[in-house]
Amino acid sequence: AGSLGATAAQSGRYFGTAVPAGKLGDSAYTGILDREFNAITPENEMKWDTTEPSRGSFNFGPADQIVSHATAHGQRMRGHTLVWHSQLPSWVSSITDANTLRSVMDNHITTEMAHYKGKIYAWDVVNEAFADDGSGQQRSSVFHNVLGTGFIEEAFRTARAADPAAKLCYNDYNIENWTDAKTQGVYRMVQDFRSRGVPIDCVGFQSHFGSSGPPASYQTTLANFAALGVDVQITELDIAQASPTAYANTVNACMNVSRCTGITTWGIRDSDSWRSSENPLLFDSNGNKKAAYGAVTAALGGS
Ligand code: G3I
Repeated sequence: AGSLGATAAQSGRYFGTAVPAGKLGDSAYTGILDREFNAITPENEMKWDTTEPSRGSFNFGPADQIVSHATAHGQRMRGHTLVWHSQLPSWVSSITDANTLRSVMDNHITTEMAHYKGKIYAWDVVNEAFADDGSGQQRSSVFHNVLGTGFIEEAFRTARAADPAAKLCYNDYNIENWTDAKTQGVYRMVQDFRSRGVPIDCVGFQSHFGSSGPPASYQTTLANFAALGVDVQITELDIAQASPTAYANTVNACMNVSRCTGITTWGIRDSDSWRSSENPLLFDSNGNKKAAYGAVTAALGGS
């Protein structure tokens, strides 16, 4: 039998997982990580509260551990995330002056991307900036409220200058169902960026699903975004109760869209999950493969 990563690689895709630095010392954990996965997203270590806890004072130690591990094991890295309203230190969320906030945001992006230059396959430049209220508009956040809707464009332009070789992604949840207002809002933003030459290379669909898995329109959504000229990626996959059918439907949708370049599950074992009570992952808490593992392997074209 192969592995998730090797099977995904047969079609030029990667298969990744979220990794917390604190588990890299657990050999049962890293045994599965290095056997099965060829891409890694730091679960928390690249977020602003860890990387710049006070202004101009950067801490890359925890994320460096993860990047070193990935380098040593030939795993590609997704950088997560540069600009997000959550896990944001209060010294940032309390800024009220636009020039100050713009300078702080741009410096954060530039410094973090410079530190990892050449080591990151794709960055989630902006995470979860759209509202869940059915408006299709950006959510309230210090970035939106102080800088206006243009903050996302500013972030992507700054990111392109910082590491021109990295793919620049917009990442969000609840944008998997095509007709949802939130999906349409993000689609219009990407369409606008593409038409005006604002640098954007990919859209990440987090894909935190309930027990029934992806919506019926999931593949349509992935294909419609890809048709704008961006890659699409499944970036934080987990499915309540991990039904094999729900996982297969998710992977099949990606396999049917040529610009769907990779899939990341948000953790390895159920016990590693942020929603562990729902047993949403591909390995049980003892590290054994679950039924969904076989369904994913088959959908990736393996046996
Ligand atoms: O680091 C502290 C630790 O010192 C303390 O003892 C402990 C007590 O609760 O908390 C620790 O921080 C926690 C951190 O995870 C590290 O374990 C935070 O409380 C907790 O809120 C944080 O949760 C993370 C969550 O993002 C925060 O929003 C999850 O691990 C992480 O899986 C989750 O990931 C997000 C993606 O980044 C974006 N999309 C949604 C996804 C799931 O919420």
